Order: sequence, then structure tokens, then C-alpha cells
Amino acid sequence: MSTPPAVHDDDALHSDRALPSDRPASPTEVLRQLTLEEKADLLGGSDFWHTTAVERLGVPAVMVTDGPHGLRKQDGEGDHLGLTASVPATCFPPAAGLASTWDVDLLTRVGEALGRECRAEGVAVLLGPGVNMKRSPLCGRNFEYFSEDPLLAGELAAGLVRGVQSQGVGTSLKHFAANNQETQRMTISADVDERTLREIYFPAFERVVRTAQPWTVMCSYNKINGVYASQDPWLLTDVLRGDWGFDGLVVSDWGAVDVREDGVRAGLDLEMPGSGGLGAQRILEAVSAGTLAEADVDRAVLRVLNLVRRAAPGLAEPLTVDAAAHHALAREAATASAVLLRNDGVLPLAATGGPVAVVGEFARTPRFQGAGSSQVNPTRLDDALGCLRAELAGSREVTFAAGYDPQSEETDAALVAEAVEAARAAEVVVLFLGLPASYESEGYDREHLNLPATQLELLDAVADANPNVVVVLSNGSVVAVEPWQERTRALLEGWLLGQAGGAATADLLLGRANPSGRLAETLPVHYLDNPTVGAFPGELGHVRYGEGLLIGYRWYDAHALRVAHPFGHGLSYTTFGYTDLEVDVVTDGPVPVVDVRVTVTNTGDREGTETVQVYVSDPEASVQRPEQELRGFTRVHLAPGASQQVAVRLDARAFAFWHSVLGRWTVEGGEFGVRVGASSRDVRLAATVRLTGEDVRPPLAPDSEVGEWLAHPVAGPVLREAIAGTGFEGMLDDPHNGQMMRAIPLVRLTRFPGSPVEESSLAERAAATNAQAQP
Ligand code: BGC
Repeated sequence: MSTPPAVHDDDALHSDRALPSDRPASPTEVLRQLTLEEKADLLGGSDFWHTTAVERLGVPAVMVTDGPHGLRKQDGEGDHLGLTASVPATCFPPAAGLASTWDVDLLTRVGEALGRECRAEGVAVLLGPGVNMKRSPLCGRNFEYFSEDPLLAGELAAGLVRGVQSQGVGTSLKHFAANNQETQRMTISADVDERTLREIYFPAFERVVRTAQPWTVMCSYNKINGVYASQDPWLLTDVLRGDWGFDGLVVSDWGAVDVREDGVRAGLDLEMPGSGGLGAQRILEAVSAGTLAEADVDRAVLRVLNLVRRAAPGLAEPLTVDAAAHHALAREAATASAVLLRNDGVLPLAATGGPVAVVGEFARTPRFQGAGSSQVNPTRLDDALGCLRAELAGSREVTFAAGYDPQSEETDAALVAEAVEAARAAEVVVLFLGLPASYESEGYDREHLNLPATQLELLDAVADANPNVVVVLSNGSVVAVEPWQERTRALLEGWLLGQAGGAATADLLLGRANPSGRLAETLPVHYLDNPTVGAFPGELGHVRYGEGLLIGYRWYDAHALRVAHPFGHGLSYTTFGYTDLEVDVVTDGPVPVVDVRVTVTNTGDREGTETVQVYVSDPEASVQRPEQELRGFTRVHLAPGASQQVAVRLDARAFAFWHSVLGRWTVEGGEFGVRVGASSRDVRLAATVRLTGEDVRPPLAPDSEVGEWLAHPVAGPVLREAIAGTGFEGMLDDPHNGQMMRAIPLVRLTRFPGSPVEESSLAERAAATNAQAQP
């Protein structure tokens, strides 16, 4: 075995601006010329952020870097924990904020801006977005994820991916899959049944892969049902490529590789960061031992070469960035991200009037993003206090009191006293509360849903002094708002709003912008109501997803639990009416298409945007299904008094479930409910639709219950005839015992004395019936 070629570290190879203008030879041509050692080397990074170059063949190293809500390009020593500084870049709201926009077009525009910034910095792939489901509200990384609903997460992430990639820059859809907690994230086994994976944890990935073709997918650290994602052939090849048609490259999360050669065989193409040659050595040893086929190595190498080739044109032509325009876009995104949870009319604040007391350190020192690998070094940073003061200058006095020290868990009596005094002297108090940075981060989970006790004490003291309290929240994941929200006249959930969040908050408070955000996750009343209680974050290396399909609103609906604020909720300064629901079956049959149309009217006196949500229910299902599931949504902007008909098309997947016996999606014929409304708990109009679908009874087997045999359209009449007139007929139809008898597997019944059916004939009969009955 010859020594693998040295890794070249020179700038010309790492800066893709230095690429020759003529494209490198085609990937297949390069592959033909590579030695096995060079191939093995190409399957790992050359450092933290670069692929490996093959200088003699003109294959450059390209840079991949975080992401996702801004560029985190480290100029100096690399690390993936956000510890060393990165070049300034626009910090858009993290996914928790962006998801609340429900605005796919906006996410596409944010993606375009991100792509441009990558082009300006010579970055080939932006590592994101992350579309893992928010299974538990305690997941430390929920700020980086979109939603508890796979359709919403998938649609929004697809918009972002399309935007980035339209600029000739790749994305890395992460973390595939079932990476729903930070505790033991590198070793935990997420134990999840296949139907739950297919219906809840996979669809966001699937949607992005199918509709936006991300250049890369990043496998997660964790195991799924005992197998590391980084070496799971079912996950990385059968599902991702076989079922969904992914044709890009799979990269490991940073340090996710366990057994490198198993990963190559399973479909993990690129190991990141570089392992200093260890990965390559294992690959070479496995090939020489005959345990890894060179064809598997070639397939992965080809994908690396394809990625490098795909990135080449963009890297050869750097773009410039208009930082001011990107900041303006970040402001627009932040404005659309905040969710007005409650408002008795105190908002918007008038431009004139008595003093406004702004209280809370977060108004002056914003919390605008989460901690860890996604931490962006913003090009500038707005604070709400400064923006409110600027907006109200000369018309309304704005006082300020810090109220608390976010770094401390201790109440500072002097700070509280100052805040109380400011509140007393003011007409209205805008109180900024939220989670200190240390409460949520990549790498660990949260311990509870509460705001710091010091902040709640401050709220009490301030509200005692002045009941006109508006609270603005800064938090990357759900906090408990009950019972304290009763002390507020308005509550604005700001999530983490990125670098322009301060200006956006001022715009919303003053009514310069009308709130349009909608919750992408439920706010439960208590932590103990959430679906993962007792099964999060697992123990002894395993976390059991016992709640199955029922995460987020699916759980709260199933248990008829009151929630603090439901999925999809968000107020506006105007109101909307819904009329004239029409539900039309465009195509019936096994792959139906249904159009839903509704007229929305702005019934208030301000222009505003409504998010129309369509939920589908399947009350006649033969399997357990959630009470309702979000299957489509659309936004409509309306002037006061204006009406518009909006349409949402529902495809077959909107009605389908994953049939675990047939191992595929199916739409079961019957009646479905179509609910249209402003949140999961604010359904305004509903209709039913009957679809032919498929007859999806599972195949018959000798040990299928007698009742299943009897109900079968082909086998049923045959069995009926066989038992006609025998004692068995009476037993099976008996009003008292019949139910028990019909639950006996037919094969067992054939062994009862006097059975009219022969055991020996059953297997053949089942096979013949299935062949006749199944599509
Ligand atoms: C994170 C990824 C990130 C990578 C590189 C990992 O620890 O899980 O999301 O892209 O580091 O920084």
C-alpha cells in the first residue's frame, strides 16, 4: 500500500477564487485517473472546513461552512463549536423565528442573500438548514429547527434551499435523521417505529430532497434503532436515494463517523472534518481485506467530485454583498417572525402620549441568536431600545431601566427598584424578558421551560406599579407563559430575531408593521403536558419515541389538552373573516388531488396578512391517525375591507398514511375532514370529502383472524360457503360469543374438531386471494 498523497494546505487550493477559469475534467474522467489512495483521501476533509484537493488533476479543495441563518466562515483556526471568531455576515433570524413567518417566498429571498454572502466569501456549501422535528420543547437546539410539524418545516426549508442554491452555492440538509435532542447526541439511539419515522421525522427531509434537491445531506450523530445514522444503509441509501431520489452527496456531521468503511458502504460519502488520514487508512485497509468494494469507494468519490464541479462556477465568480440591503431583508424577516400572542388593544403604541418605560436588559443588549456552531458574527446589531427612542424622538418620552442582569440568577433589588420607579412614572411599560444565552445551546438540553425567576419577580413588581404591561420575549424555544401572561396586556413572542430584531420589534410595537407571525410550535400550559414526559432524553443510551406520531399539536389534540397558545396561532392588528369554503376533488382514485378554496376578508381597519391553514382529518381510518394534520397553508395580504379567494391544493400525501404492513404510502378510501382556519384550534370552516382511495386491507395470512377472512371481498364469500350450515357458522354469528370467535386466527380454528376448512389449504388460499385482491 503506498502512502496517501500529502494534504495540500496552500491558499491557492483553499481559496476557490484562484480556480482556473476552465473547468476541471469531468468527474468520471478524474475518477479514472485517481489512485486508490487519492480516492480514499478525497472521502475525507483536509481540515475543518475543506474537502481534499488533488493538485495533479486540478481538483481543488472547496469550503463548506455553517450556517444556517448566516454565514459562519472562520478565517483563522477552525472549530465547529462557535468558539473562534468568524467573518462578519448578516445574521438573519434563526429557524425558530423564520418558521413563524410561514412565508416560503421570504425564506427563498433570505436563502438568496445567504447564497450571495457565500459567493462573496468563496464558500461552496452552506451547512444547513436543519429540519429536525421539535419533539421535546426542551431540546437545546430547537432554536435552529423550524417546527413540530413536518409539512411546515419542509416547505420553509425547501424555500431556503432553493434560494441559496439559486446563487450557485450548495446547502446541507441536516441532521438526517431523528436528531431531536442534544443529550448524548453523539451516541444516543432514537428508538422509533418506521411509520413514525416516515410520517413525522422524515417528511421534512423528503420534501426538501424531492422539491429543492439540496446538493448535500448531513447525516446526524445519533443512532436510529441501534444503528449509527452515519453507517445506516437503509437510511442513507434505501430511503434517501432509493425512495426519494437524492442524487447529491452525504456528508457526516462533524465527528459523526464511527466505522469509516461501514459508512462508505452505507452511503456516507464525505467524512468531516478531516481525520488526518485515519479515515482514508481504514478505507484502504478494508478494500485490501476485501470487506469494502472499490466500487463503493468510487461511487462516493464521484459524488465528491460532482460536488466540487457543481461549486466551481460560483466559486470562480465571487459576488459582492450589499450589507445594507441584507440588513433590510433581515429586518423584514424579523418583522415577519415575531408572533403577537395576546393583545387587549394596548398595542400598537401611539406615536404620541405619556412616557413609555422600556424595562429589561434584553431591550438594550439583545439576545438575537443561539449558541454553538450556528453563531454568526453580525454585520451590525440593532437594539429595540435604541430603535424605539429613535422612532419616538420628539414625540414621546422613552425611559429605560435594565431590571435584571441576564448573567445572574440573583435578583438585584436596586435594578428592580429602578424599574418599578420607571414603570410608575410611565403610561405604558414595555418589558423585555427572555432566556439568557446559557439556557439554550447546541450540545445540551434545557432543564425546564421557565423564564429565570428573577425576571418573573421583576414582572410582578413592575405590573404592581403599572398594569399597562406589554411583554416582549426573546427565546429560541418555547417558554411557559402561564400563569404570568395574565399580568400582561399584550405579549409579543419575539423568538430570536437576528441582527435587525431591534428595529423589527420597534416597528411592530409602534404599528409601523402589522404582526403576521404564526406559531410553528405549540406553547403548552405546563411542561408536564408535553408528549415526551417520561421518554426524554432517554436512558442507558436509548430514547424511546413512545408517543409515536403524536408530537406537538397532534398530542395536545389527541388528549384534548388546553394549551397556552396553539400551533398556528398569531394575532394581527386587524381581523379576518373566512367565507365560501369549496372543496373539489380534482382527481379521485388511489392518488387523489383535492383543491380547497376559501375567501378571506380583512374585516378590520388596517392592512395585514393572514395565514390560511388547512388541516385534514381521517375519522374513518382503519389505523390510528392524529385528530388532524396540517396539510397546506397560504398567506394573503389584504387592505382593510378587501376580500380574496385563496386556493390550497392537497395532493395524495395529504390524505395518506404509511402502511407498515404494505411498506408504502396509501390513501384509504372513505370520508376525510377538511378544516380551514387561523390556527389548529381556530377552525373557521370545515367540509368533508369522500375519496375512493385504495382498499388497503393487509394481505391475508393463515393466522389472520377469522373476522378478517370473512370481511375480505374475495376470501369472505368462499369461507362463508364453506362454513354454511355447520356449527361454526352459528358460533361465528352468535350475538354474544361471535366477536370472540371471529378474533381467532383462522389457522387455529381449522384445528378445532369438525372444522369445515383444512389447515393444509390455507397458505395457498391466502396467496391466491392476495394475488387477486391487491393492486
Ligand atoms: C453540528 C452541525 C454543524 C457542524 C459544523 C456540528 O457539531 O451538529 O450542525 O454544521 O458541527 O460546525
